[in-house]
Amino acid sequence: MKHFIRVAILVIILTVLIGFGLDKVGYMPELASVQGEAIDELFTKHIWVISFLFSLIIGFMLYSFVVFRQKPGENKDGDHFEGHTGLEIVWTIVPLAIVMYFSFLGATALAETRRADPNAYNITVVGSQWSWRFDYDDYEFSSSELRLPVDRQALLMMTSTDVIHSFWVPEFRVKQDALPGEGMERELRVTPTELGNYKVRCAEMCGTEHAYMLADVIVMEVSDFEEWVEEQQGGPSGDAAERGEVWSQQFGCQACHSTDGSERIGPTWLDLYQSTETLIDGTTVVVDDDYLYESIVDPQATIVEGYENVLMPPTGESMTEEQILDVVEYIESLSEHE
Ligand code: CUA
Repeated sequence: MKHFIRVAILVIILTVLIGFGLDKVGYMPELASVQGEAIDELFTKHIWVISFLFSLIIGFMLYSFVVFRQKPGENKDGDHFEGHTGLEIVWTIVPLAIVMYFSFLGATALAETRRADPNAYNITVVGSQWSWRFDYDDYEFSSSELRLPVDRQALLMMTSTDVIHSFWVPEFRVKQDALPGEGMERELRVTPTELGNYKVRCAEMCGTEHAYMLADVIVMEVSDFEEWVEEQQGGPSGDAAERGEVWSQQFGCQACHSTDGSERIGPTWLDLYQSTETLIDGTTVVVDDDYLYESIVDPQATIVEGYENVLMPPTGESMTEEQILDVVEYIESLSEHE
């Protein structure tokens, strides 16, 4: 019996040390949403259970290594034991109760993250290889950054134009896949609680540039948000080329096409206009307005040598005629041949 009391004390000490130690490590980023509170509570409880189970096993082991080690001159086998019904009942019932308790906690936490606010406003989140677009459905404009007013629930509808992506802002804790296809929309509710700048990360392997599929998330005061919405509703200002720059960010063109000559998946737009390109059938073309336009609406129509294995998504399908022409203007403005 004295061994059990000693081990119990050892296990309690280890549990407390490891539990508080893990708590101090700061394994989670700052919490910045209402939905995240339930998740963090769940994490804290898990950490304590993990600390206890680890201590229970290691505590018994360490104690046995030290106290029951073979003494010099001891050659006999140890005592033989044959089962212990009481112990077996206890170690079946106790873990079962703990697991059931945690499944209950998990279900309530899930319900908590889905609690709907009837005043939530709608944003459609569109994932594409490899960028995010945010359609502010209530205000009829789109943005390449996600701006949210603080303390108001946003209902995010997730969708994708190509493969499966996953919307994840670590500070909000919640995460949701964005699936391609009609009727495959998934919803996620977020009520930000802290002003600040965050990042959406794609949390589903979606191709070569997956790791760089980021977008800015900015949580603002309600009045600042309303001001920003008003600015956006007029559409981007400036001439066609300036508008084209905004569209090309919004529709994710720049995820694959650089504008400074650097190497990405697709050809750079710097000095592309009026340059001569060799196609895979050996013929050459001079890049003009018509060629650029065609490359946006029908990317597979002509393939330039060296890009045989690159599949450009049909981005043009989700753009208006005007937006495409603006982007063409923008590409032209990046060339000295103008
Ligand atoms: Cu999109 Cu990974």
